[in-house]
Amino acid sequence: EKNISVGLLGLGTVGSGVVQIVEGHQEELAHKLGCGVTIKSILVCDIEKDRNVQVNPVTLTTNPEAVLADPEIDIIIEVMGGIDEAREHILRAFEAKKHVVTANKDLMALHGPELQYAAKQNGCDLFYEASVAGGIPIIGGIVDGLASDRIEKVMGIVNGTTNYILTKMDDEGVAYEDALNEAQELGFAEADPTGDVGGLDAARKMAILARLAFSTSVDLADVEVDGIEGLALEDLQFGRQLGLKMKLIGFADFQDKQVEVSVQPTFLPENHPLAAVKDEYNAVYVNGKAVGETMFYGPGAGSLPTATAVMSDVTAVIKNMLLGVTGQQVVTPRYDKVLKSPEQ
Ligand code: NDP
Ligand code: HSE
Repeated sequence: EKNISVGLLGLGTVGSGVVQIVEGHQEELAHKLGCGVTIKSILVCDIEKDRNVQVNPVTLTTNPEAVLADPEIDIIIEVMGGIDEAREHILRAFEAKKHVVTANKDLMALHGPELQYAAKQNGCDLFYEASVAGGIPIIGGIVDGLASDRIEKVMGIVNGTTNYILTKMDDEGVAYEDALNEAQELGFAEADPTGDVGGLDAARKMAILARLAFSTSVDLADVEVDGIEGLALEDLQFGRQLGLKMKLIGFADFQDKQVEVSVQPTFLPENHPLAAVKDEYNAVYVNGKAVGETMFYGPGAGSLPTATAVMSDVTAVIKNMLLGVTGQQVVTPRYDKVLKSPEQ
Protein backbone atom coordinates (compact mmCIF):
# COMPACT_ATOMS: atom_id res chain seq x y z
CA GLU A 1 0.00 0.00 0.00
CA LYS A 2 1.22 3.50 -0.87
CA ASN A 3 2.23 5.69 2.07
CA ILE A 4 2.44 9.49 2.25
CA SER A 5 4.98 11.00 4.65
CA VAL A 6 4.24 14.34 6.26
CA GLY A 7 6.42 16.68 8.30
CA LEU A 8 4.99 18.56 11.26
CA LEU A 9 6.21 22.01 12.30
CA GLY A 10 5.05 22.26 15.93
CA LEU A 11 3.80 19.76 18.52
CA GLY A 12 1.73 21.96 20.84
CA THR A 13 -2.06 22.02 21.23
CA VAL A 14 -2.83 21.55 17.52
CA GLY A 15 0.23 19.46 16.61
CA SER A 16 -0.58 16.93 19.37
CA GLY A 17 -4.13 16.64 17.99
CA VAL A 18 -2.73 15.98 14.52
CA VAL A 19 -0.55 13.16 15.89
CA GLN A 20 -3.56 11.66 17.68
CA ILE A 21 -5.70 11.72 14.53
CA VAL A 22 -2.99 10.31 12.28
CA GLU A 23 -2.38 7.50 14.78
CA GLY A 24 -5.99 6.84 15.71
CA HIS A 25 -7.67 7.18 12.30
CA GLN A 26 -5.38 5.16 10.00
CA GLU A 27 -8.31 2.94 9.02
CA GLU A 28 -10.46 5.92 7.96
CA LEU A 29 -7.55 7.55 6.13
CA ALA A 30 -6.65 4.31 4.32
CA HIS A 31 -10.29 3.70 3.39
CA LYS A 32 -10.87 7.22 2.09
CA LEU A 33 -7.49 7.73 0.43
CA GLY A 34 -6.32 4.24 -0.43
CA CYS A 35 -2.97 5.01 1.21
CA GLY A 36 -1.40 5.33 4.62
CA VAL A 37 -0.21 8.56 6.27
CA THR A 38 2.92 8.73 8.45
CA ILE A 39 4.38 11.65 10.39
CA LYS A 40 8.07 11.33 9.55
CA SER A 41 9.55 14.22 11.51
CA ILE A 42 8.45 16.98 13.86
CA LEU A 43 10.04 20.38 14.43
CA VAL A 44 9.92 21.63 18.04
CA CYS A 45 11.80 24.16 20.20
CA ASP A 46 12.61 21.77 23.01
CA ILE A 47 13.16 18.05 22.39
CA GLU A 48 13.30 17.22 26.11
CA LYS A 49 9.92 18.78 26.97
CA ASP A 50 7.23 16.57 28.59
CA ARG A 51 4.38 16.14 26.11
CA ASN A 52 0.80 14.99 26.45
CA VAL A 53 1.13 12.87 23.34
CA GLN A 54 3.56 10.02 22.73
CA VAL A 55 5.79 10.27 19.70
CA ASN A 56 8.85 8.32 18.65
CA PRO A 57 11.70 10.50 20.02
CA VAL A 58 13.71 10.06 16.81
CA THR A 59 11.04 11.98 14.88
CA LEU A 60 11.68 15.14 16.97
CA THR A 61 14.13 17.73 15.70
CA THR A 62 15.07 21.35 16.28
CA ASN A 63 16.52 21.64 12.78
CA PRO A 64 13.95 22.98 10.28
CA GLU A 65 15.93 21.63 7.29
CA ALA A 66 15.59 18.08 8.63
CA VAL A 67 11.87 18.43 7.93
CA LEU A 68 11.74 20.91 5.05
CA ALA A 69 14.48 19.36 2.91
CA ASP A 70 13.62 15.69 3.47
CA PRO A 71 12.94 14.28 -0.03
CA GLU A 72 10.62 11.61 1.42
CA ILE A 73 8.25 14.21 2.87
CA ASP A 74 5.46 15.36 0.54
CA ILE A 75 3.36 17.54 2.85
CA ILE A 76 4.35 20.05 5.54
CA ILE A 77 1.85 20.82 8.31
CA GLU A 78 2.65 24.20 9.89
CA VAL A 79 1.22 24.40 13.41
CA MET A 80 4.05 26.25 15.14
CA GLY A 81 2.44 29.70 14.97
CA GLY A 82 4.16 33.08 14.77
CA ILE A 83 4.73 35.01 11.58
CA ASP A 84 8.27 35.50 10.26
CA GLU A 85 9.77 32.08 10.91
CA ALA A 86 6.60 30.27 9.85
CA ARG A 87 6.55 32.31 6.62
CA GLU A 88 10.18 31.44 5.86
CA HIS A 89 9.58 27.74 6.52
CA ILE A 90 6.52 27.67 4.26
CA LEU A 91 8.37 29.44 1.44
CA ARG A 92 11.23 26.95 1.88
CA ALA A 93 8.72 24.08 1.73
CA PHE A 94 7.37 25.35 -1.61
CA GLU A 95 10.90 25.74 -2.92
CA ALA A 96 11.40 22.05 -2.04
CA LYS A 97 8.10 21.31 -3.92
CA LYS A 98 6.18 20.30 -0.82
CA HIS A 99 2.49 20.99 -0.28
CA VAL A 100 1.58 22.98 2.85
CA VAL A 101 -1.32 22.86 5.28
CA THR A 102 -1.39 25.58 7.94
CA ALA A 103 -3.59 26.63 10.87
CA ASN A 104 -1.89 30.00 11.05
CA LYS A 105 -4.35 32.88 10.62
CA ASP A 106 -1.83 35.51 11.73
CA LEU A 107 0.31 34.51 8.78
CA MET A 108 -2.51 33.98 6.26
CA ALA A 109 -4.14 37.31 7.12
CA LEU A 110 -0.86 39.19 6.62
CA HIS A 111 0.96 37.20 3.92
CA GLY A 112 -1.76 34.99 2.40
CA PRO A 113 -1.56 36.37 -1.17
CA GLU A 114 2.27 36.15 -1.22
CA LEU A 115 2.21 32.54 0.01
CA GLN A 116 -0.52 31.57 -2.43
CA TYR A 117 1.51 33.03 -5.27
CA ALA A 118 4.61 31.11 -4.15
CA ALA A 119 2.58 27.90 -3.92
CA LYS A 120 1.25 28.39 -7.43
CA GLN A 121 4.69 29.17 -8.86
CA ASN A 122 5.97 25.87 -7.44
CA GLY A 123 2.94 23.76 -8.39
CA CYS A 124 2.07 23.17 -4.74
CA ASP A 125 -1.12 23.22 -2.69
CA LEU A 126 -1.62 25.63 0.23
CA PHE A 127 -4.66 24.86 2.38
CA TYR A 128 -5.64 26.63 5.62
CA GLU A 129 -9.09 25.46 6.76
CA ALA A 130 -8.00 25.37 10.44
CA SER A 131 -7.00 29.04 10.37
CA VAL A 132 -10.62 30.18 10.81
CA ALA A 133 -13.12 28.83 13.35
CA GLY A 134 -11.21 25.69 14.42
CA GLY A 135 -13.13 22.54 13.52
CA ILE A 136 -15.89 24.25 11.50
CA PRO A 137 -15.44 23.73 7.74
CA ILE A 138 -16.14 27.39 7.04
CA ILE A 139 -13.46 27.99 4.39
CA GLY A 140 -14.52 24.88 2.48
CA GLY A 141 -18.13 25.98 2.95
CA ILE A 142 -17.44 29.35 1.36
CA VAL A 143 -14.92 28.30 -1.32
CA ASP A 144 -16.54 25.02 -2.40
CA GLY A 145 -19.99 24.69 -0.84
CA LEU A 146 -21.20 28.13 -1.94
CA ALA A 147 -18.88 28.41 -4.95
CA SER A 148 -21.60 29.42 -7.42
CA ASP A 149 -23.30 31.96 -5.18
CA ARG A 150 -22.73 35.68 -4.71
CA ILE A 151 -21.96 36.04 -1.02
CA GLU A 152 -23.18 39.31 0.45
CA LYS A 153 -22.52 39.02 4.17
CA VAL A 154 -20.47 36.99 6.67
CA MET A 155 -21.15 37.50 10.35
CA GLY A 156 -20.54 35.67 13.58
CA ILE A 157 -18.37 34.52 16.46
CA VAL A 158 -14.91 33.50 15.25
CA ASN A 159 -12.82 33.57 18.43
CA GLY A 160 -13.13 30.74 20.95
CA THR A 161 -11.16 32.35 23.77
CA THR A 162 -13.33 35.45 24.05
CA ASN A 163 -16.52 33.43 23.72
CA TYR A 164 -15.28 31.15 26.50
CA ILE A 165 -14.49 34.16 28.70
CA LEU A 166 -17.86 35.82 28.03
CA THR A 167 -19.72 32.55 28.74
CA LYS A 168 -17.91 31.92 32.03
CA MET A 169 -18.41 35.51 33.17
CA ASP A 170 -22.07 35.66 32.19
CA ASP A 171 -23.24 32.16 33.20
CA GLU A 172 -21.03 31.46 36.21
CA GLY A 173 -19.90 34.87 37.45
CA VAL A 174 -16.21 33.98 36.91
CA ALA A 175 -13.95 37.07 36.92
CA TYR A 176 -12.41 38.15 33.58
CA GLU A 177 -8.80 37.27 34.51
CA ASP A 178 -9.78 33.82 35.88
CA ALA A 179 -11.82 33.02 32.77
CA LEU A 180 -8.87 34.07 30.58
CA ASN A 181 -6.52 31.83 32.60
CA GLU A 182 -8.90 28.89 32.09
CA ALA A 183 -9.02 29.52 28.33
CA GLN A 184 -5.22 29.54 28.26
CA GLU A 185 -4.98 26.30 30.26
CA LEU A 186 -7.43 24.61 27.89
CA GLY A 187 -5.25 25.56 24.90
CA PHE A 188 -7.82 27.87 23.26
CA ALA A 189 -5.84 31.10 23.61
CA GLU A 190 -2.85 32.09 21.48
CA ALA A 191 0.67 32.01 23.00
CA ASP A 192 0.16 35.76 23.50
CA PRO A 193 -3.57 36.14 24.29
CA THR A 194 -3.66 39.90 23.74
CA GLY A 195 -4.68 39.27 20.12
CA ASP A 196 -7.59 37.12 21.28
CA VAL A 197 -9.02 39.52 23.86
CA GLY A 198 -8.19 42.63 21.81
CA GLY A 199 -10.14 41.37 18.79
CA LEU A 200 -7.12 41.07 16.46
CA ASP A 201 -7.39 37.28 16.16
CA ALA A 202 -11.03 37.64 15.10
CA ALA A 203 -10.08 40.50 12.75
CA ARG A 204 -7.50 38.28 11.05
CA LYS A 205 -10.08 35.55 10.57
CA MET A 206 -12.69 37.99 9.25
CA ALA A 207 -10.12 39.39 6.79
CA ILE A 208 -9.46 35.85 5.51
CA LEU A 209 -13.18 35.07 5.22
CA ALA A 210 -13.95 38.40 3.53
CA ARG A 211 -11.20 37.82 0.96
CA LEU A 212 -12.57 34.40 0.12
CA ALA A 213 -16.26 35.29 0.30
CA PHE A 214 -16.07 38.45 -1.81
CA SER A 215 -13.04 37.60 -4.00
CA THR A 216 -11.38 40.84 -3.09
CA SER A 217 -8.27 42.04 -1.32
CA VAL A 218 -8.69 43.05 2.30
CA ASP A 219 -5.97 44.70 4.36
CA LEU A 220 -5.95 43.92 8.05
CA ALA A 221 -5.18 47.57 8.75
CA ASP A 222 -8.57 48.53 7.34
CA VAL A 223 -10.55 46.27 9.66
CA GLU A 224 -12.23 48.16 12.47
CA VAL A 225 -11.34 46.27 15.68
CA ASP A 226 -12.45 46.44 19.27
CA GLY A 227 -11.96 43.77 21.95
CA ILE A 228 -13.29 42.69 25.34
CA GLU A 229 -10.24 43.48 27.50
CA GLY A 230 -10.97 44.46 31.03
CA LEU A 231 -14.69 43.75 30.77
CA ALA A 232 -16.32 43.73 34.23
CA LEU A 233 -18.97 41.35 35.52
CA GLU A 234 -21.20 44.40 36.04
CA ASP A 235 -21.19 45.13 32.29
CA LEU A 236 -22.66 41.72 31.55
CA GLN A 237 -25.05 41.98 34.49
CA PHE A 238 -26.32 45.27 33.06
CA GLY A 239 -27.02 43.54 29.74
CA ARG A 240 -28.74 40.62 31.43
CA GLN A 241 -31.19 42.96 33.14
CA LEU A 242 -32.20 44.17 29.67
CA GLY A 243 -32.42 40.64 28.21
CA LEU A 244 -29.13 41.00 26.30
CA LYS A 245 -25.98 38.89 25.95
CA MET A 246 -22.62 40.27 24.92
CA LYS A 247 -20.71 38.50 22.12
CA LEU A 248 -17.61 39.47 20.14
CA ILE A 249 -19.07 39.73 16.65
CA GLY A 250 -17.14 39.73 13.40
CA PHE A 251 -18.92 41.34 10.47
CA ALA A 252 -18.08 41.59 6.79
CA ASP A 253 -20.32 42.75 4.00
CA PHE A 254 -20.02 43.59 0.36
CA GLN A 255 -22.19 46.19 -1.28
CA ASP A 256 -21.63 48.25 -4.42
CA LYS A 257 -18.18 46.64 -4.78
CA GLN A 258 -17.23 47.91 -1.33
CA VAL A 259 -16.15 45.72 1.56
CA GLU A 260 -16.66 46.61 5.18
CA VAL A 261 -15.08 44.43 7.88
CA SER A 262 -15.25 44.92 11.63
CA VAL A 263 -14.96 43.15 14.98
CA GLN A 264 -16.93 44.60 17.90
CA PRO A 265 -18.30 43.49 21.29
CA THR A 266 -22.04 43.56 20.69
CA PHE A 267 -25.11 43.13 22.88
CA LEU A 268 -27.54 40.68 21.24
CA PRO A 269 -31.10 39.85 22.30
CA GLU A 270 -30.84 36.69 24.44
CA ASN A 271 -33.08 34.75 22.01
CA HIS A 272 -30.72 35.49 19.06
CA PRO A 273 -29.10 32.20 17.84
CA LEU A 274 -25.59 33.68 18.32
CA ALA A 275 -26.43 34.46 21.97
CA ALA A 276 -26.80 30.69 22.55
CA VAL A 277 -23.26 29.92 21.33
CA LYS A 278 -21.30 28.97 24.45
CA ASP A 279 -17.74 28.33 25.59
CA GLU A 280 -15.14 27.94 22.83
CA TYR A 281 -17.81 27.30 20.21
CA ASN A 282 -18.03 29.53 17.12
CA ALA A 283 -20.90 30.20 14.73
CA VAL A 284 -20.83 32.02 11.42
CA TYR A 285 -23.71 33.18 9.23
CA VAL A 286 -22.97 33.32 5.52
CA ASN A 287 -25.62 35.04 3.41
CA GLY A 288 -25.65 34.34 -0.31
CA LYS A 289 -27.83 35.98 -2.94
CA ALA A 290 -29.17 32.63 -4.13
CA VAL A 291 -28.89 30.37 -1.10
CA GLY A 292 -30.14 32.90 1.46
CA GLU A 293 -28.97 32.55 5.05
CA THR A 294 -26.71 29.66 6.13
CA MET A 295 -25.16 29.11 9.53
CA PHE A 296 -21.99 27.16 10.35
CA TYR A 297 -21.58 26.08 14.00
CA GLY A 298 -19.06 24.04 15.98
CA PRO A 299 -15.94 24.03 18.16
CA GLY A 300 -13.86 27.07 17.24
CA ALA A 301 -10.63 26.15 19.07
CA GLY A 302 -8.91 23.28 20.83
CA SER A 303 -6.65 20.38 20.01
CA LEU A 304 -8.75 17.71 18.28
CA PRO A 305 -11.32 19.97 16.58
CA THR A 306 -8.58 22.11 15.03
CA ALA A 307 -6.53 19.04 14.12
CA THR A 308 -9.60 17.64 12.36
CA ALA A 309 -9.62 20.69 10.07
CA VAL A 310 -5.87 20.34 9.51
CA MET A 311 -6.25 16.68 8.60
CA SER A 312 -9.19 17.34 6.28
CA ASP A 313 -6.83 19.65 4.36
CA VAL A 314 -4.17 16.94 4.38
CA THR A 315 -6.66 14.49 2.84
CA ALA A 316 -7.58 17.12 0.21
CA VAL A 317 -3.90 17.55 -0.64
CA ILE A 318 -3.39 13.79 -0.88
CA LYS A 319 -6.42 13.42 -3.17
CA ASN A 320 -4.95 16.13 -5.39
CA MET A 321 -1.56 14.41 -5.34
CA LEU A 322 -3.12 11.11 -6.35
CA LEU A 323 -4.99 12.87 -9.18
CA GLY A 324 -1.88 14.81 -10.20
CA VAL A 325 -3.49 18.24 -9.77
CA THR A 326 -3.19 21.18 -7.40
CA GLY A 327 -6.25 22.93 -6.03
CA GLN A 328 -5.28 25.69 -3.67
CA GLN A 329 -7.84 27.66 -1.70
CA VAL A 330 -6.88 30.57 -3.92
CA VAL A 331 -9.03 33.47 -4.82
CA THR A 332 -7.97 35.73 -7.62
CA PRO A 333 -9.21 39.16 -6.61
CA ARG A 334 -11.93 40.33 -8.96
CA TYR A 335 -11.69 43.78 -7.50
CA ASP A 336 -8.73 45.76 -6.29
CA LYS A 337 -8.71 47.32 -2.88
CA VAL A 338 -12.25 48.56 -2.48
CA LEU A 339 -12.50 48.87 1.23
CA LYS A 340 -14.97 51.27 2.70
CA SER A 341 -13.46 53.24 5.55
CA PRO A 342 -15.48 53.10 8.79
CA GLU A 343 -16.50 56.76 8.56
CA GLN A 344 -18.02 56.44 5.06
P1 NDP B 1 1.36 25.92 20.81
O1 NDP B 1 2.04 27.11 21.40
O2 NDP B 1 0.59 25.03 21.71
O3 NDP B 1 2.44 25.02 20.04
C1 NDP B 1 3.43 25.54 19.22
C2 NDP B 1 4.39 24.42 18.87
O4 NDP B 1 5.32 24.89 17.93
C3 NDP B 1 5.19 23.88 20.04
O5 NDP B 1 5.34 22.49 19.93
C4 NDP B 1 6.56 24.56 19.91
O6 NDP B 1 7.65 23.74 20.35
C5 NDP B 1 6.66 24.71 18.40
N1 NDP B 1 7.38 25.91 18.00
C6 NDP B 1 7.00 27.20 18.18
N2 NDP B 1 7.92 28.04 17.67
C7 NDP B 1 8.90 27.27 17.18
C8 NDP B 1 10.14 27.53 16.53
N3 NDP B 1 10.54 28.77 16.31
N4 NDP B 1 10.92 26.49 16.15
C9 NDP B 1 10.52 25.22 16.40
N5 NDP B 1 9.34 24.89 17.00
C10 NDP B 1 8.55 25.91 17.37
O7 NDP B 1 0.44 26.49 19.65
P2 NDP B 1 -0.97 25.92 19.15
O8 NDP B 1 -0.85 24.49 18.83
O9 NDP B 1 -2.05 26.37 20.04
O10 NDP B 1 -1.16 26.78 17.79
C11 NDP B 1 -0.43 26.49 16.64
C12 NDP B 1 -1.00 27.27 15.46
O11 NDP B 1 -2.35 26.90 15.25
C13 NDP B 1 -1.01 28.80 15.66
O12 NDP B 1 -0.80 29.40 14.42
C14 NDP B 1 -2.44 29.06 16.15
O13 NDP B 1 -2.87 30.36 15.87
C15 NDP B 1 -3.18 28.05 15.32
N6 NDP B 1 -4.47 27.64 15.87
C16 NDP B 1 -4.58 27.25 17.17
C17 NDP B 1 -5.78 26.82 17.68
C18 NDP B 1 -5.94 26.39 19.09
O14 NDP B 1 -7.07 26.08 19.50
N7 NDP B 1 -4.87 26.32 19.88
C19 NDP B 1 -6.98 26.76 16.82
C20 NDP B 1 -6.75 27.19 15.44
C21 NDP B 1 -5.55 27.61 15.01
P3 NDP B 1 7.81 23.24 21.89
O15 NDP B 1 6.65 22.32 22.12
O16 NDP B 1 9.11 22.54 21.96
O17 NDP B 1 7.74 24.48 22.72
N1 HSE C 1 -7.02 31.57 19.86
C1 HSE C 1 -7.97 31.15 18.89
C2 HSE C 1 -9.35 31.28 19.44
C3 HSE C 1 -7.70 29.74 18.46
O1 HSE C 1 -9.49 31.38 20.67
O2 HSE C 1 -10.31 31.28 18.66
C4 HSE C 1 -8.56 29.31 17.29
O3 HSE C 1 -8.23 30.01 16.13
